[in-house]
Amino acid sequence: MSGKRLPVVVLISGNGSNLQTFIDGQRDGSLPIDIRAVISNRADAHGLRRAEDAGIHSEILDHRAYPNRASYDTALAGLVDRFAPGLIVLAGFMRLLSASFVERYTGRLINIHPSLLPAFRGLHTHRRALESGVREHGCSVHFVTPELDAGPVIAQAVVPVAANDTPETLQTRVQTEEHRLYPLAIRWIAEGRVTLRDGEVLHDGDRRRQPPRITPGTDTAAARADR
Ligand code: GRF
Repeated sequence: MSGKRLPVVVLISGNGSNLQTFIDGQRDGSLPIDIRAVISNRADAHGLRRAEDAGIHSEILDHRAYPNRASYDTALAGLVDRFAPGLIVLAGFMRLLSASFVERYTGRLINIHPSLLPAFRGLHTHRRALESGVREHGCSVHFVTPELDAGPVIAQAVVPVAANDTPETLQTRVQTEEHRLYPLAIRWIAEGRVTLRDGEVLHDGDRRRQPPRITPGTDTAAARADR
């Protein structure tokens, strides 16, 4: 593809189904990114296989080899910086990150969380959504800040909650939308259409009252940051 591609590092711990959507988008040209490296804290993460199959460089940085979070995060930052990423994408990276790591990458570090933030920060979001009786659930892509799952939201995907849903069926429905939402948000960032300024997300240079939302019917290929 022509034009500049955003250098990206992806951090994973497990399956890597979101990573796969980035690989696919890079390959088919819909995502103007260059995945320079995939880094996992676990050697058995299936996402490492996905990277290998795609010919993408990968690294394992096992947290168990470090005495504490600060020393691991220092090593992680050193490794990340070797690839000079314009964007660091957390895709199922199951570790809390220290404030100094997060602040080093302000505006260049994003995460996907399986809820409509600010609802249901933390773990077990699908079960908690069912227990609370909400009619809508979903996922959010956000810039990462030191406070867990509290960073400014870039975009969200909404799914309906069915009366007979289990945490598993709801998770499956949300993940289908994660796989549409995350590449969309990354595309907007890669195209320079979404930025973080003074702690606020700008879409095409403007603040929005609410983050844009997609639904299962949305054509994400045509979706624009300003709709
Ligand atoms: C996703 O469901 C995401 O919401 C959460 O971790 C999961 C990662 O899945 N942050 P995968 O490894 O991308 O398949």
